[in-house]
Amino acid sequence: MTSTRLTQFAHGGGCACKIPPGELEEIVRDLTGDTGPDLVVGLDDGDDAAIVRVQDGLAVVATADFFTPVVDDAYDFGRIAAANALSDVYAMGGRPVVAVNLVGWPRDVLPGELLREVLRGGLDICREAGCHVGGGHSIDDPEPKYGLAVTGVADPARVMRNDAARAGQPISLSKHLGVGVLNNRHKSTGEVFPQAIASMTALNKRAAAAALEAGIAAATDVTGFGLLGHLYKMARASGVTAVVDAAAVPYLDGAREALRDGFVSGGTWRNLDWVRPHLASGVDEDELLLLADAQTSGGLLLAGEIPGAPVIGEFVPRADTTLVIR
Ligand code: CO
Ligand code: CO
Repeated sequence: MTSTRLTQFAHGGGCACKIPPGELEEIVRDLTGDTGPDLVVGLDDGDDAAIVRVQDGLAVVATADFFTPVVDDAYDFGRIAAANALSDVYAMGGRPVVAVNLVGWPRDVLPGELLREVLRGGLDICREAGCHVGGGHSIDDPEPKYGLAVTGVADPARVMRNDAARAGQPISLSKHLGVGVLNNRHKSTGEVFPQAIASMTALNKRAAAAALEAGIAAATDVTGFGLLGHLYKMARASGVTAVVDAAAVPYLDGAREALRDGFVSGGTWRNLDWVRPHLASGVDEDELLLLADAQTSGGLLLAGEIPGAPVIGEFVPRADTTLVIR
């Protein structure tokens, strides 16, 4: 009996199926005009979710995220996609309360039982998050896709956003990098990397709670644009420069070997190309590629410190470049 390899039905590798960051910014350039006193966080700085105040002390957090299979196992794919979608609520300082499934499925090619496994994975992760799941929407699609639209709640006075980092604050990261190169290797060779699965299925719930507890005001999660892409967006929105100490950035086991063996996704190259004009680098190209590695369900990137998340650099007053790697 041969098992179905879900990744073979995806044209791109993981979050590498994202529209490249520069291209997307060009497309939405004139579409950022929505404002109003109750819109706490809108489109302007490419935040993880939109936040709208609905009454005094209560805001709704809205986000959606879905993608093609990043791993072969259907249940794990469901768990990863759900953890990734929920993460955008956590990254804003919100608490997810209800999610709906978003499904594309090639029903002529892949059995319904596999889709059931995907959905079961998503359900298990939402249960762990304490988030209800209410139905969803599905279409017949040549390429399998799964994710969630998630609604959360937050205290509008205590949300975490992209534009609130200040010079003098440390930069910390709550998960190791490297799932991009490991997923790329998995797709090519079928080798399984439990450390990557464990990282991608881990909720950012605890890290977000610790960040709110610590009074942190700026956060995002590291996903398809890689550490460098998301850090660039945060520093640019905040009007500061981010200095990264490359040696302090944590990597999953096997990430460096996967890079050495050439398992770098197109998305990672595009991330690096996008930030390069804004970057002063004191490290080699390989190190930059690892720092730009497109993540799926990555950790929280924080302007501040929490237990268990290493400090990887600091924000400084705006300098010649938005990013400095040393
Ligand atoms: Co995000
Ligand atoms: Co997202």
